[in-house]
Amino acid sequence: MSSDVQALIDAAMKARDSAYAPYSNHPVGAAVLTKSGRIFAGCNVENAAFPLGFCAEANAIGAMVQAGGRQIVHVVVAGPGDLPCMPCGGCRQQVREFSGETARPVTICNKDGEIILETTTAELLPHSFGPENVEETRGD
Ligand code: THU
Repeated sequence: MSSDVQALIDAAMKARDSAYAPYSNHPVGAAVLTKSGRIFAGCNVENAAFPLGFCAEANAIGAMVQAGGRQIVHVVVAGPGDLPCMPCGGCRQQVREFSGETARPVTICNKDGEIILETTTAELLPHSFGPENVEETRGD
């Protein structure tokens, strides 16, 4: 395994330790690697008003954007169990915004940080809608 991947897994697991998930009891950590080699992590943050919770991936992306990062080249999600914790539909679209049309690796880990599923952004969201599509409507 490359040192980048291990660093991403470590960052996702560390973020998962900070998760605020009292309602689902399903803590999640996510980490994204940017094109320039920086790693940003996030955890899920739930709310007593259930629909207002944020996913780990969304918060990792928020940290990246706040620091000026714009290009995701790898995503790691660390779930709390042994079943793959797959990014929800909304998070797939959020990742797509910053990963472009190129297939980027998405690595899913179990509670112990072991890789249990490897896929790509393109497999998770085929025929996706992205920033280029919005450009199309803008004209010259
Ligand atoms: N969740 C994430 O943070 N990321 C995922 O990839 C899937 C689900 C969160 C949302 C909610 O706080 C909890 O897990 C249960 O759905």
